[in-house]
Amino acid sequence: MGEAGGHTPSQAEQKSFAERAKLTVTRRDFLIGAGAGAVTAGVVLGGAAVATKAISPSPSTSSGGTATANLSALPATMRRVELKIDGVTHNVVVDNRESLWETMNFQLGLSNSNLGCDRAQCGACAVLVDGKAVNGCTVLSARLGRGQEIKTVASLTTGPGVAGLHPIQRAFWLDGGFQCGICTRGFIMSTVSLLAVNPKPSAVQIAEGLSGNICRCGEYAKIFTAVNTAAAEMRGEKVTHLAAPIVVEATGVEAAPTAQALSKEFTFVNPLGTIEDVDPLVAALKLKTGILDASASERTVTVKWDSSKLNEQQVRDILAGMGKAVR
Ligand code: FES
Ligand code: FES
Repeated sequence: MGEAGGHTPSQAEQKSFAERAKLTVTRRDFLIGAGAGAVTAGVVLGGAAVATKAISPSPSTSSGGTATANLSALPATMRRVELKIDGVTHNVVVDNRESLWETMNFQLGLSNSNLGCDRAQCGACAVLVDGKAVNGCTVLSARLGRGQEIKTVASLTTGPGVAGLHPIQRAFWLDGGFQCGICTRGFIMSTVSLLAVNPKPSAVQIAEGLSGNICRCGEYAKIFTAVNTAAAEMRGEKVTHLAAPIVVEATGVEAAPTAQALSKEFTFVNPLGTIEDVDPLVAALKLKTGILDASASERTVTVKWDSSKLNEQQVRDILAGMGKAVR
């Protein structure tokens, strides 16, 4: 496929485009094409959604205008585009109605984003385009060949293991901000976009920033915790993840705490209003200096703390300061 600008496709290539188009029958094709009974440029649309046939993408480094589209040489329904994804330029021919998610998965073999609803409702497919989170299932690949920088979750990792994860990935992992994981890549990319412009978002701002993402497993409390933890680490603060006792220093290097740990169960003076209040309280408590771990029910909270930094009265004071006085 490494076709340079001005090249007129051979008959074999023309045939290849047509064959590919015939095999490219997605839900979108059905809705746009066959649903309306349309037959265009020899492309037969219709039927159930199936995977497209790959058309041998040409990953390359940017070579300055090597992919000048010879539009007249392609079927009217196709475009040649140069997609910059995670720092790699891909020259690829796409159907005008092909989504970025379809191109990445079916043509380029990049399974770096998940498909949930395929209709711009859940955010599972979110990737960044020039730093802004967009739904890959809905953005058309034909519109992304103008130098836009596309980033997926695969661009975030800097090395092996948990320490090599981006702070946001690490926080989702160690704070348990997922169950089935279908939504997670989308939440992570939306969080990247949010924290790039707001390093210390409030709960309301997190809710607004992630409002395009849905978690069917309902892990919102831990997702919010993960966002707060990641934001703190990215600000250079020491953070403790819910999966204690791992402590991540500001350098991003993991270290086991050397603390002398004490633990005690306390009873709330006033029980929590609902079980939904437990996770946010525990998450906030774990961010306090000297607190190593915590768990809670509606009536009690069990706290493990570093006795070299806190005594029991100071733990009680921390809880009281959070509006959760204990007996
Ligand atoms: S799969 Fe794209 S928004 Fe749901
Ligand atoms: S973890 Fe399952 S949808 Fe969010």
